[in-house]
Amino acid sequence: MDDKPQVLDAEHGAKRAKPKDVGVSRFVLLLVACATLPACWMLIHKAWGHGNHAEEQNVLGKVSWGGCGSQGSRLAECGDITVPLDYFDEGAGSASIGLARYPASVSPRKGIVLFNPGGPGGSGKGLVARAGKLLQTLVGEDYDVIGFDPRGIGDSKPSTKCFSEGIDYATFSRNTILSRSYDLASNLSDAEAKKILIRQHIEAEALYKTQFEVCARTMGDKLKYMGTSSVVRDIDFITKALEGPNSLINFYGFSYGTILGQYLVNMLPDRIGRVAIDGVADATAWVSDPYYTWYREWLTSTTDAYDLFFQRCSEVGPLHCELAHEKAEKPSDIKDRLESFIDGLFYEPLAVSNATVPGLLTSGRVRMFLLGNLVTPLSWPAAAHALAQAMTGDGAAVLDAVQPRAGADLQRSAVSCNDQLPHAAPAPGAVVGELLDVFRTVTRLAFTVVTTEPDAGCEFWPVTPPERFAGPWNHTLSNPILILSNEMDPVTPLRSGELVHKLLGDSSSLLIQDSPGHCTIALPSACTNNATRAFFADGTLPKPGTHCATDYPPFSVDAVRALDVDAGRLDAQARLGVILDRVRKGADYDDLL
Ligand SMILES: *[C@@H]1O[C@H](CO)[C@@H](O)[C@H](O)[C@H]1NC(C)=O
Ligand SMILES: *[C@@H]1O[C@H](CO)[C@@H](O)[C@H](O)[C@H]1NC(C)=O
Ligand SMILES: *[C@@H]1O[C@H](CO)[C@@H](O)[C@H](O)[C@H]1NC(C)=O
Ligand SMILES: *[C@@H]1O[C@H](CO)[C@@H](O)[C@H](O)[C@H]1NC(C)=O
Repeated sequence: MDDKPQVLDAEHGAKRAKPKDVGVSRFVLLLVACATLPACWMLIHKAWGHGNHAEEQNVLGKVSWGGCGSQGSRLAECGDITVPLDYFDEGAGSASIGLARYPASVSPRKGIVLFNPGGPGGSGKGLVARAGKLLQTLVGEDYDVIGFDPRGIGDSKPSTKCFSEGIDYATFSRNTILSRSYDLASNLSDAEAKKILIRQHIEAEALYKTQFEVCARTMGDKLKYMGTSSVVRDIDFITKALEGPNSLINFYGFSYGTILGQYLVNMLPDRIGRVAIDGVADATAWVSDPYYTWYREWLTSTTDAYDLFFQRCSEVGPLHCELAHEKAEKPSDIKDRLESFIDGLFYEPLAVSNATVPGLLTSGRVRMFLLGNLVTPLSWPAAAHALAQAMTGDGAAVLDAVQPRAGADLQRSAVSCNDQLPHAAPAPGAVVGELLDVFRTVTRLAFTVVTTEPDAGCEFWPVTPPERFAGPWNHTLSNPILILSNEMDPVTPLRSGELVHKLLGDSSSLLIQDSPGHCTIALPSACTNNATRAFFADGTLPKPGTHCATDYPPFSVDAVRALDVDAGRLDAQARLGVILDRVRKGADYDDLL
C-alpha cells in the first residue's frame, strides 16, 4: 500500500451518528457473519456499492491476516485493519492500522490483550510479531497478544513522514542542539549559565519551527489524525472487530502507553476489561501544562536512581563497574570524577574519530547517555564500561549510543503536539529559568530530558486534531485497572502512579516495585509478575500497599534465581525489558530474540 489512503466517498463510508458508535457494531455483525460464509465479502461489496478493487481494500472494519515474514515468529500472524481516518467526519476516508497477533497456547482462550510499547513511536506490531511469546509471560498464555502500530507509526497509514527521501531526522538534527543536547558546566554561575542556555534554547526553537514548517508542507492535514484520542478510538474499534461488539477492552501499556491507558479508561470508562499500565507518566500534565513545567515532577526520582548507580558501582567494584577505582570506594568520589569529566567537556569537547558517525562528545551528550542508561539498570555494567573508556579518551561507545537513529522522523512530535492544549510560545528566559532551577534543585539531568524526549515546540504545530481529550481523569470504570510503578523510575516517578491511583480511587490498584529503572520489567520480579498474571487471570488486585522486590539486584551480573517456574519467566522479562527500550528508540533487537 502506498502512503495515501484511498478516500471512500461519504456515501460509501460507514454511516455514523456519533463518534461513540462509529458504526462498528454493524460491521462487526457483518464480519462475524463473514467468518462463516466465504462469499460474504462479495455481498458486502455489492451492498455497499463498491465498484473497484481499491475501494474494496478500504472497507471499514476489514481485517486481513497473513504471515509476518522472515522477521516474525512462526506462530505470529501479521496484517492490518481499515479504520475511519476521522471518527467525526465520515467523508475523510480511511486509515490502515498495522496489526500482529501471537495466539494463545492454553485453552480455554480468554480473549485478546492489546499492547503498547511506549515512545510514542514504538511499533507494537513488530514487537508482537517477534516477541509475542515473551509478552504472554506478563498476562498469561491463555490470551492472544495483539500488537498494533498507532496512528502515524510503523506500518500504519498514513504514516508520519515529514522529511523526504534521503533526508531524515538524523540528517536534519545532526550536531545541532537537538542531537547534542544542552551544554552546561555545573560550576557556572546562574547568570552565566542562563545566558549560555538561552542562546542554545533560541537555536532549538528555530529548529522546531523549521521542522514543523517542513511537516506542514509535506504532510499537511494528514498530521492531525496522529493524536492519542484517535488511537483510543482505534483500540475500541479493533477490539470490537476482533472479538465482537460487546467485548470489553484489555490493554497493557508501558511508558507513553500509560498515557494512552489513562486516555482509554477515561474516554471509555464503561468499556474497560483488564487494563494494566506500567511506568506511569502523568497524562494530566501531558495534556494541560506547558512541556517545560513537567520535569520538576517527572524527574523527582531521577536523583535517587542516579545515586543508586554510584552506590551499587562502589559495592560491586571495578570488576563489574569500571568507574570505580576499588571496591567500597566512596560513591561520591566516583560520582565527582564522572561529573568533573562532564563539566570539562563543556570547556573542551572530546573529538571522537572512530564512532560510527564521527563527531564530538559534549557534556550534553554524556548526560543524555546517563539518563538513557538509568532507564535500563541491566545495562549498567556496559554503561560504566563505555563511560570509563570515554574518560580515558575513547568516546566512541558513548557517542554511538546517543546519535539519532537513521530513518527516524517526527512520529513522537505528531502524537505529543496533537495532544497538548495550545499554549503561547514560552519566553526563552522562562523555559531556561525553570529548567536551571530543576537542574540545581532536582536533578543534574534536567536539560537532557528535553532532547531525549522531544515534546517541545508545539506552538509551531500546524494542525488541530479532530478530538483532543483533556479529562476529567477521575472516572469510575467498569473494571478496576492495575497500576505498576517503580520506586526509582528516572523518567516516570512513583509520584505519577500515585496521582493516577488517587484520581481513579477504587477503580484502580497500585503495586510498587522496589527498584530503579523505567517500567517494572526493567528489573524483573517474580512477585510483580505473579500479581500481573493474577490480575489478567481473574481480576485479582494486589492488596493496598503491596511492594515487590526485584529478583535482579541492580548492577549485578548474576540474578537471584528463585524457583524454576519463576526463572523462565524472569529471563523472558529481562530480555523484554531491554527489547522494549530498543523498540521505543527505534533500534534493532534481533540479537535478543
Ligand atoms: C569551571 O571549571 C573549569 C574547568 O574545570 C575551569 O576552567 C573554570 O575556570 C571554572 N569556572 C568557574 C566559574 O569556576
Ligand atoms: C577508537 O580509537 C581508539 C584510539 O584512538 C582505540 O583505542 C579504540 O579501541 C577505538 N574504539 C573503537 C570502538 O573502535
Ligand atoms: C472529577 O474531576 C472533575 C474535574 O477535575 C471534578 O469537577 C469532579 O468533582 C471530580 N469528581 C470526583 C468524583 O472526584
Ligand atoms: C509465582 O507463582 C509461581 C506459580 O505460578 C510460584 O511457583 C512462585 O513461587 C511465585 N513466586 C512468587 C515470588 O510469588
